[in-house]
Amino acid sequence: MCGIVGYIGKRRARDYIIQGLKILEYRGYDSAGLAVFDGCGKINCIKRAGYVSQLESATIGTEGNCGIGHTRWATHGAPSDVNSHPHTCGKFTLVHNGIIENFVSIKSQLANKGKRFLTQTDSEAIAVFLDDVYDGDVIKALSAALKKLKGSFALAILCKDFPDKIFVVKKQSPLVVGIGDAECFVASDCMAFSQYTDKAVYLKDNEIGEVSSQGIKLFDGNGNRKAVKIEKTATEYFAPADCKSFMYKEIYEIPKAVQYTAEEFFANDEKKLGVVDIFSKNDKVVMIGCGTAYNACLVGKNIFETVLRVPVEVELASEFRYKNPIIDDKTVVVAVSQSGETADTIAGVRLAKSKGADVVVITNVAHSSITRYADMVLHTKAGAEVAVAATKSYLTQILLFLCVATVLSDDLKSVAAIKKEIESLPQLTQKTLALDEQVHKLAKEFCKKQSVFFIGRGLDYALALEGTLKLKEVSYIHSEGFASGELKHGTLALIDKNALVIAVVTQRHVAEKTCNALHEVQARGGKVVIITPFEKAKNDVECDAFLQLPSSSGLIAPMSAIIPLQLFAYYMSIERGINPDKPRNLAKSVTVE
Ligand code: F6R
Repeated sequence: MCGIVGYIGKRRARDYIIQGLKILEYRGYDSAGLAVFDGCGKINCIKRAGYVSQLESATIGTEGNCGIGHTRWATHGAPSDVNSHPHTCGKFTLVHNGIIENFVSIKSQLANKGKRFLTQTDSEAIAVFLDDVYDGDVIKALSAALKKLKGSFALAILCKDFPDKIFVVKKQSPLVVGIGDAECFVASDCMAFSQYTDKAVYLKDNEIGEVSSQGIKLFDGNGNRKAVKIEKTATEYFAPADCKSFMYKEIYEIPKAVQYTAEEFFANDEKKLGVVDIFSKNDKVVMIGCGTAYNACLVGKNIFETVLRVPVEVELASEFRYKNPIIDDKTVVVAVSQSGETADTIAGVRLAKSKGADVVVITNVAHSSITRYADMVLHTKAGAEVAVAATKSYLTQILLFLCVATVLSDDLKSVAAIKKEIESLPQLTQKTLALDEQVHKLAKEFCKKQSVFFIGRGLDYALALEGTLKLKEVSYIHSEGFASGELKHGTLALIDKNALVIAVVTQRHVAEKTCNALHEVQARGGKVVIITPFEKAKNDVECDAFLQLPSSSGLIAPMSAIIPLQLFAYYMSIERGINPDKPRNLAKSVTVE
């Protein structure tokens, strides 16, 4: 949540800042701002409510080679020009990603000293605090801030006394410094500078950095110098959405994403042995995640229970972290997070570690914060996912559950069958994309609906939940996902001639049951769409639309069935005039609670 960038070197800082903010706009997009030293010691600070493109036009002609920028997802204080970052007090101008939990008490202490506040943000309290404690030594002031501030923060700071430096601080929010040739880049995600350098310093919690064009000096929380470790960044070059949108582009990248993920997993013998080791020494499996990652865990549970006959518990990470979960040193917790930065999932992982559990992390971002707590990291190779709605990453997460099941199972026959299916996945998903036009037609027909229900049984129920999440977040239509057998236990009361029910039917042994539920819907006048690889379902229900999936087995079919659900959400969004990449109130990387 919120994206930070900074630049110092020979280029015009404003140009990199705008470009970097556009790349990081997935992290928040309700306002944006920048501050640049003008070359004569003055800081020009420009900020606006709205998208980065609005900031871009407002900053044309801003000169200077050292500056910072921010794209915001509001936590404290409405999106407005004044609440946008950077915030300035005295000699300090800063941008902040995270939440200062004790900002109210800090503000009142400073107000008692006569300090004035101009915004409703928590972030301004940091600038005012720094100004209050500053005695000419910035590192000392930042050490004091690290001790004073509670919560999560990544900061990039300009101090008027040092026009050739950017100061950075990190605690629980991501921050990375790219090292170029006589230039340095600051960012929340290395994707922002990946076209300039692949060398970077990933700050750890409670570290302070002094960044100049020549590199970075690192300090611990007490202001003592630390060694600097330069690493190679793992993110591939950020590819702009040259077609309709990032969401659409990313759905179309699914075939490649599944291919690369499976190749990477099966090519790594050490990893496979590690998987066997970690799961065989534990006797309980718990999976955690948020949103789509949680929905992937529901599928993972089904895969593990079907293939391995091992019971699995699935928990929302945001719930797991605040209960006293029954886990111990014989438990393996599998944490799933595309970004690897989700605060709730990271907190769940830390809790699991504190109770002695082993942690396996499934993530799409190699250097993400969550990996630091993992006993083992399984890497989805979906490539950068920028649209707020998770699409290709969801499939790769499910795929890794399948891959893990193949190395843990001793049923050689079924392992061979699953591996064959995995090999066919790129082709299967490619074929499924051919439903695009049909799905678009459906969206045109149903885009005015006020409520859409998704139903399914078993694995299909897990898919229904993901279908409904996708639709809600990018089209703002009320939607719910139900186990099809549950309709008659209450939900059927919602069904009338205005209802649209989309049934996912990929599990042969319960296909007829879901079709029966659809008859019950039709009897109440509801419209019915079926998504299935089974042609026969067409005869079983006279539906309003029939989306025929390419044929595949029960465990693989969900990966194909999710594609029309994602496309449906996408087209519903487009038909309703919404930008699917930037749905209201949301951000891609949820680094705050
Ligand atoms: C929905 C979506 C969110 C994320 C959730 C977890 O499309 O993207 O529900 O899945 O915020 O994010 P990660 O996977 O980054 O932990």
